[in-house]
Amino acid sequence: MASRVSCFLLAVLFCASCKVITSSDLMCTEKEANRTYNCENLGLREIPDTLPNMTEFLEFGFNFLPTIQNTTFSRLINLVFLDLTRCQINWVHEDTFQNHHQLNTIVLTGNPLIFMAETSLNGPKSLKHLFLTQTGISHLEFIPVHNLENLESLHLGSNHISSINLPENFPTQNLKFLDFQNNAIHYISSKAINALEQATDLSLNFNGNDIQGIEPGAFNLKTFQSLNFGGTSNLAVVLKGLQNSTVQSLWLGTFEDTDDQDLTLVTFEGLCKMSVESINLQKHHFHGFSSSMFRCFTGLQELDLTATHLQELPSGIEGMNSLKKLVLNANSFAHLCQISAASFPSLMDLYIKGNRKKLDLGARCLEKLEHLRKLDLSHSDIEASDCCDLQLKNLPHLQYLNLSYNEPFGLQDQAFKECPRLELLDLAFTHLHVKAPQSPFQNLHFLQVLNLSHCLLDTSNQHLLAGLPDLRHLNLHGNHFQDGSISKTNLLQAVGSLEILILSSCDLLSIDQQAFHNLGKMRHIDLSHNSLTGDSIDALSHLKGLSVNVAANNIRIIPLHLLPTLSHQSTINLSHNPLDCTCSNIHFLTWYKENLHKLEGLEETTCANPPWLRGVKLSDVELSCGMTAVGIFFLIVFVFLLIVLLICLVKFLLRWKYQHI
Ligand SMILES: *[C@@H]1O[C@H](CO)[C@@H](O)[C@H](O)[C@H]1NC(C)=O
Ligand SMILES: *[C@@H]1O[C@H](CO)[C@@H](O)[C@H](O)[C@H]1NC(C)=O
Ligand SMILES: *[C@@H]1O[C@H](CO)[C@@H](O)[C@H](O)[C@H]1NC(C)=O
Ligand SMILES: *[C@@H]1O[C@H](CO)[C@@H](O)[C@H](O)[C@H]1NC(C)=O
Ligand SMILES: *[C@@H]1O[C@H](CO)[C@@H](O)[C@H](O)[C@H]1NC(C)=O
Ligand SMILES: *[C@@H]1O[C@H](CO)[C@@H](O)[C@H](O)[C@H]1NC(C)=O
Ligand SMILES: *[C@@H]1O[C@H](CO)[C@@H](O)[C@H](O)[C@H]1NC(C)=O
Repeated sequence: MASRVSCFLLAVLFCASCKVITSSDLMCTEKEANRTYNCENLGLREIPDTLPNMTEFLEFGFNFLPTIQNTTFSRLINLVFLDLTRCQINWVHEDTFQNHHQLNTIVLTGNPLIFMAETSLNGPKSLKHLFLTQTGISHLEFIPVHNLENLESLHLGSNHISSINLPENFPTQNLKFLDFQNNAIHYISSKAINALEQATDLSLNFNGNDIQGIEPGAFNLKTFQSLNFGGTSNLAVVLKGLQNSTVQSLWLGTFEDTDDQDLTLVTFEGLCKMSVESINLQKHHFHGFSSSMFRCFTGLQELDLTATHLQELPSGIEGMNSLKKLVLNANSFAHLCQISAASFPSLMDLYIKGNRKKLDLGARCLEKLEHLRKLDLSHSDIEASDCCDLQLKNLPHLQYLNLSYNEPFGLQDQAFKECPRLELLDLAFTHLHVKAPQSPFQNLHFLQVLNLSHCLLDTSNQHLLAGLPDLRHLNLHGNHFQDGSISKTNLLQAVGSLEILILSSCDLLSIDQQAFHNLGKMRHIDLSHNSLTGDSIDALSHLKGLSVNVAANNIRIIPLHLLPTLSHQSTINLSHNPLDCTCSNIHFLTWYKENLHKLEGLEETTCANPPWLRGVKLSDVELSCGMTAVGIFFLIVFVFLLIVLLICLVKFLLRWKYQHI
């Protein structure tokens, strides 16, 4: 204690030695030394000299470069990625990139291009990605063809293109992605599609073009990875035009502001004459929805009917034996049985997320889906007073169940015994009333991830998590513990296999030193956003190699005896704590500087005390709590004077004594 007081006094005395180191600001932000720089929005008119020659990734958007030429980037010959978004570029001159052999991505998005020289893209031998989005292009002849043999993606969205006829010699052999979204393309000819013949597994995006005609046979015997005709007002035209094609993923959704025709039986006739794996029809309206509408859907493996204003799926749908994935998000089902689950016997993934009505789970509605692996019922206003035996009857292979963001659930003993193979269970933001004294999760032998954040759990129930032998990831964010304290015996003792534990925002004030003693396998613990003090770190003393987040707590001082505990961990986030930067915390401050490599959030780890260091980064504080040379000099002088004084006093006393004999 005495040493602490003297340290403090000395710290006050020699405060002049406390210094804050600030590094001088560079104009561009360095993201990775000598490699990656961001110079966006700095009003630059040229490449600054401060950028090293070796720069490989350069984000240079939102500056001012009306013309670019062979001198503009000549110094940066190692460039791999160059982003020149919205630099008001009008002219791209000859040989601008002549020495940039490694350049593989050029982003020219949002530049009002007037001219690109024929040889402007010469040089980058492996140019793979070219972004010419929003550049005012109206003809594809504008794009210099030279040197594009390796091009994989060409982005031409939001221009004025009306014809997709590529120039004769346009190299397409490596093309994987061609983006024409939001142009003025209304007609697709056979010639245009034939020009793409060499490209295999191509993805073509015509989103937002409103295609009104496709030449018959244009897509005959062609194969595509994906085709996007989003926002087309008459889908029948598209599906007819795609006759005899093979498409893995067909996106035919629409948007709120598109004035499109309702989908009818006739719309889908073309679908019978092509081969598709996956279709998205989001936001369309169906007219006269009946089971026969699915007649041409029988080959599908995935069907996405998000927000298609459905209240039910008709019963009697036949032949949908290949369907593996069905997305019914944002519709208006009142009862789970209204999805006619039995019509889709091979279903593995089912999503009914964000239902627009209160969804009643009913009983046994999904019992025919014995292959179901993934079920998402989140945000669907589901209320269940006694869950989930009957509701989830016969789902022996279910691995993923998302019931987050619903109304209160009452859980019985072994509530999930009908889905014994669950690996992930997400109940976040759904209030749970556990009705049995035993664990509702008992016998989920395969459960690895359990999200119980904001569930208003009764955390005093020590059996709540019993019977989960493989649980690795537990999220208890936003739950409360009695008296703000995790005591020696607590619900975590039942889950010794935990590797990741989230206890953030639990209003914790303290943690017993033994609270985690059973959790030997932990790799990550998040205790952020509580009111813990430095002493709580003691609860981690038996753990090693952990990544610890204790950000935003009430940690002022970390005592000397807890520093070895911190040293044993792999990363530590101490940001947003009211840390003490006086000599009473000198051991921790010294430790901090020696362990910067382990610490996260250095920028936000600042002093709160003493007042003159408030807000200063801990790593910048230079505190000297030992004696300085000046201090030692004065001390010696002081001691010397004291000795002289003493000798004088003794002499005086002796003389006084003899005088009085
Ligand atoms: C960056 O380049 C400079 C100058 O060549 C060199 O001294 C420094 O070590 C390099 N830094 C890194 C992290 O490569
Ligand atoms: C740029 O082009 C001009 C004119 O063609 C030429 O004289 C000059 O040498 C080139 N500069 C570089 C750096 O290549
Ligand atoms: C960077 O490149 C320029 C032009 O190529 C050259 O003059 C300069 O010496 C180079 N700087 C370094 C540090 O290598
Ligand atoms: C589709 O293929 C069939 C059989 O090969 C052929 O008879 C038909 O004309 C083709 N349709 C189109 C539009 O090319
Ligand atoms: C469950 O659904 C919610 C809301 O839709 C989502 O935020 C969450 O990521 C999902 N959980 C998992 C594990 O995917
Ligand atoms: C619940 O936790 C899991 C695992 O951390 C996470 O993937 C999921 O997104 C969380 N759910 C919500 C609703 O945040
Ligand atoms: C440290 O924790 C805070 C609070 O949870 C978080 O915002 C921040 O991103 C974390 N920092 C790092 C580097 O992970």
